Amino acid sequence: MSKRTVLVTGGMGGLGESICTKLADLGYEVITTHSPGNTKAPGWLAEMKARGYDFHAYGVDVGDAEDCARVLARIQSEVAPIDVLVNNAGITRDMTFKKMTKVDWDAVINTNLNSVFNMCKPVVDGMVERGWGRVINVSSVNGQKGAFGQTNYSAAKAGMHGFTKALALEVARKGVTVNTISPGYIGTKMVTAIPQDILDSKILPQIPVGRLGKPEEVAGLIVYLASEEAAFVTGANIAINGGQHMF
Ligand code: CAA
Repeated sequence: MSKRTVLVTGGMGGLGESICTKLADLGYEVITTHSPGNTKAPGWLAEMKARGYDFHAYGVDVGDAEDCARVLARIQSEVAPIDVLVNNAGITRDMTFKKMTKVDWDAVINTNLNSVFNMCKPVVDGMVERGWGRVINVSSVNGQKGAFGQTNYSAAKAGMHGFTKALALEVARKGVTVNTISPGYIGTKMVTAIPQDILDSKILPQIPVGRLGKPEEVAGLIVYLASEEAAFVTGANIAINGGQHMF
């Protein structure tokens, strides 16, 4: 079997880097995307190269359908058709609903939810035609249980799983699986940006395992869902949250 090609959106972030390196360690051809204005991209690529990882990286606004279509067409002709799509890019604009503006709402819905449509659209038909594919949507425990200060983020993350279930039904007979994972609080910049007192008093006490999760633990779950063995898992929403939310 030839090398599978994986595309990870937001691959330079805390979770994304772990996902990219773990998949590359297993022999996948790894492509990542970053936001178009990300000036750190060349430095990150050089650092990865020094660590032995030869990643492809493309700037794309995942919230812009036309940009996604254009960049995905380029990627699939310059590198290879996408076998595994990991919709990992996401942002937060945390604030209470009272303070939230339409701009804060739209930014999060666009980057975290519309992006899933925008990225799937140019790749899923190809997966179906080739009879093999994996779509893995990185949601959040806060899409399952809600979170104080995250009406926008919780809505986007919950919406992702509705999309997952519907698309999973449509492509189930074509060798393509579509799944959601819902990480809890993982030790990345997104979480360490939470005010320390809120983290200590409101969040950590709610995690039975007693610590933040590790990016490599989430990457390990993605590796499984991307694998041949995971062919019977589809339309699932797999929690990885240290016991913070059970249902
Ligand atoms: N539960 C209950 N009460 C909370 C709370 C919580 N999780 N967070 C804050 N509060 C309370 C505070 O204790 C405070 O109460 P008092 O007025 O009685 O003291 C009140 O809400 C206002 O809190 P702040 O002073 O912090 O208000 P703020 O307007 O400056 O900030 C906030 C509000 C932006 C929501 C801030 O509290 C915050 O950042 N909270 C964390 C939000 C969060 O969990 N984000 C997750 C980010 S990680 C992520 O998203 C990844 C993932 O998928 C898991």
